[in-house]
Amino acid sequence: MTLPYGANEMLDMVNAETGTVDRRIYSDKDIYELELEQIFARAWNFMCHDSQIPNLGDFFMTFIGEDRVICVRDNDGNPQVLVNSCRHRGNAICRAEEGHATSFMCTYHGWTYDLKGSLVGVPGFKEVYHEELDRENWGLISAGKVDSYKGWIFATMDREAPDLYDYLGEVGRIGINLMVARGDVLQVQGIQKSTINCNWKFAVDNVWDYYHGSLTHASAGMAGWRAGFIVKPGLPDPFPRTNLNNAEVRYTSVLGDYGHTIGGPSYSDSGQLRAGMVDHSWREKPESRSLLGEVGMRANGHPHIFPNLWIMQGFSKVAVRLPKGPTTTEIWWYGFYNPEHDEETRANLVKRQLRHDGPAGVFEQDDGENWGESTTGTKGKIAQRYPLNYSMNVGRGEVVSDETGPPRIDTSNNEHSQLWFYQNWTVWMASDSWQDLEARQLPLEGSR
Ligand code: FES
Ligand code: FE
Repeated sequence: MTLPYGANEMLDMVNAETGTVDRRIYSDKDIYELELEQIFARAWNFMCHDSQIPNLGDFFMTFIGEDRVICVRDNDGNPQVLVNSCRHRGNAICRAEEGHATSFMCTYHGWTYDLKGSLVGVPGFKEVYHEELDRENWGLISAGKVDSYKGWIFATMDREAPDLYDYLGEVGRIGINLMVARGDVLQVQGIQKSTINCNWKFAVDNVWDYYHGSLTHASAGMAGWRAGFIVKPGLPDPFPRTNLNNAEVRYTSVLGDYGHTIGGPSYSDSGQLRAGMVDHSWREKPESRSLLGEVGMRANGHPHIFPNLWIMQGFSKVAVRLPKGPTTTEIWWYGFYNPEHDEETRANLVKRQLRHDGPAGVFEQDDGENWGESTTGTKGKIAQRYPLNYSMNVGRGEVVSDETGPPRIDTSNNEHSQLWFYQNWTVWMASDSWQDLEARQLPLEGSR
């Protein structure tokens, strides 16, 4: 694809030394189109969890960039990812968001595809196509690779992409294992979906923003909201909040290949901050340590798998931020639970999940308002001459690299994870092939 900007210009959109980001990346239409091509059509995208499609023929519809795709369990038990667009005139071959099928028949003229995407039925094949239509070449467009890790199904449209295990790397795997270790291995039925008028990257960079909470979410706090529970007026607050900008509170930013990162307060501090809010007993189990390693055991912030999967492990849920244009993002929330927990525990968890984010949540409403205004603030030609500031704690804190886990930076509240995400974003955008992209991978040591 022809770059609207040269590769060097793309790389210059983010300056990690000064901690600045060019505003154009949030609303420029050409940059957005390029993202669909360079990032979404190439990366491993999260599709769904195994438990969402347990039986042969079960399917779940989602997106890779703006392409509608169906993730379906074929008759051999393997997940397939098929582009939901008929090869005849492009009509959708499936209208349901999830369900069960034995085949997919297009409602326009009736071309029919099996669960692997092969074209198996063409009305008038003899009479009007004279048996000359080469059906083998007119199957559905399918993903280049589909694979899963611990039941989490991902797909990439690019056959050249590295295998999923390597793509996730240690950091992406820790992110998923933070959910697996607490036993949250089943997906709560129903996906919460809503639209926010913002660029998808503003939603992503908020994942590690521990700076905004006390102000942006002040009204939620005033209403008595604490971790999904309403604190009754007059009773002592069971979850007292500490100032997250306190220099004493330690934060760790774990840096992974391709832009994956985990950022947030480390466990010990967070344990003091939010004692009693979340059940941490899973950390005592020996298998947790072997799954997560030392760095993973200390992580209590927010893992994110590039480009758009936020693992909000403290709430046992994940969000995918689907781009719908440069200034529109659809947010899909998937809740998980531990099948060994009793009904009351599960019900409480689901309540917490629903009350925090999504259409019924109070927190994401606060956030979305800011992301929308931030997006608008990047459109003006004059404003675009001035970059945004991501310099908190830039240049402070060493990158620690040792045998206990992936490289990380330990400082007070910071914007290291945001900058890591954006720096990697420039690499994806500037690289025309996987070979290019690998060659440009940022060195983990010495980066901030
Ligand atoms: Fe699907 Fe014609 S568009 S059969
Ligand atoms: Fe927030």
